[in-house]
Amino acid sequence: MERIQSAIQKARAARAQDVTHDEGHALPPTGHIAKPASLVEAVEAPASDSFWAELPVAEFNVAALKKGRVFLDRAGELTTPFDVLRTRILYEMRKNNWRRLAITSPGSACGKTTLCLNLAFSLARQRENHTLVIDLDMRRPSMAKLLQTPQEQAFSSVLESSSSPEEHLVCYQDKLAFGVNHKPTPNSAELLQSQSAAHVIDQLEERYHPDVILFDTPPLLACDDTFAFLDQIDCVILLAAAETTTAEEIEKCEREIDSRSNLLGVVLNKCRLLDKADSYGY
Ligand SMILES: Nc1ncnc2c1ncn2[C@@H]1O[C@H](COP(=O)(O)OP(=O)(O)O)[C@@H](O)[C@H]1O
Ligand SMILES: [Mg+2]
Repeated sequence: MERIQSAIQKARAARAQDVTHDEGHALPPTGHIAKPASLVEAVEAPASDSFWAELPVAEFNVAALKKGRVFLDRAGELTTPFDVLRTRILYEMRKNNWRRLAITSPGSACGKTTLCLNLAFSLARQRENHTLVIDLDMRRPSMAKLLQTPQEQAFSSVLESSSSPEEHLVCYQDKLAFGVNHKPTPNSAELLQSQSAAHVIDQLEERYHPDVILFDTPPLLACDDTFAFLDQIDCVILLAAAETTTAEEIEKCEREIDSRSNLLGVVLNKCRLLDKADSYGY
């Protein structure tokens, strides 16, 4: 296990070096910015705010989101658990200098996408945070439908290096951007293991300097997509659904995550019985 951890550390260090030295895989130039910014220029001039300001702005339908259990604005007891989770996650991530967080679960329908979006809007409520949200559940993309983003969004083409991120990101309040897909991507496991996807994510990080990149991923035990991508991720939240997910499934996922990334914690979702004190905002 130690050997695997040390190999992962080495791979991360190599990734960090690639970002500064490999200009051969630079993101396609943006169509919105007058002077195409190479990665090196972005590093020298940390004017990432200008990249954020150039992104197309998304108008979200608050009522439709609410129907899908997603809350943009603070809403008392409904959003307190997400704010509490956000604060704990940020504390751990800052302490460890981590930026990439994946949300996964053993099986489907545990609430990954719902949690990912609520966490994203909770992060946006703290105005100093810049957050990128990427939908990597490319076999069954659902985030685009929930957010009702423009139909042409296909962030998978950015991961393939065939489009620029600015063509497929939409921004909310200058500091939160979403990269989603309206259509399924047939070769998602291969794409997630590709050099291209790894470089694109490295370079997104350099260009936008997000405090957090949130990845909504497919179920860990249902396909190989998430496992293939785990060593690109700093830390993981494992979501379990009450009355559905089994202890064995959680243990299996914990082992897989521990072998390739860092498990931040397990969140139990869809609990019908909550202690009053747990559900209130103290
Ligand atoms: N805490 C919750 N309580 C009740 N229903 C939930 C909760 N979280 C999510 N859901 C619902 O469960 C369904 C699946 O959620 P979703 O986020 O799409 O799961 P996943 O991304 O894991 O497949 C959706 O209908 C969603 O509204
Ligand atoms: Mg989902």
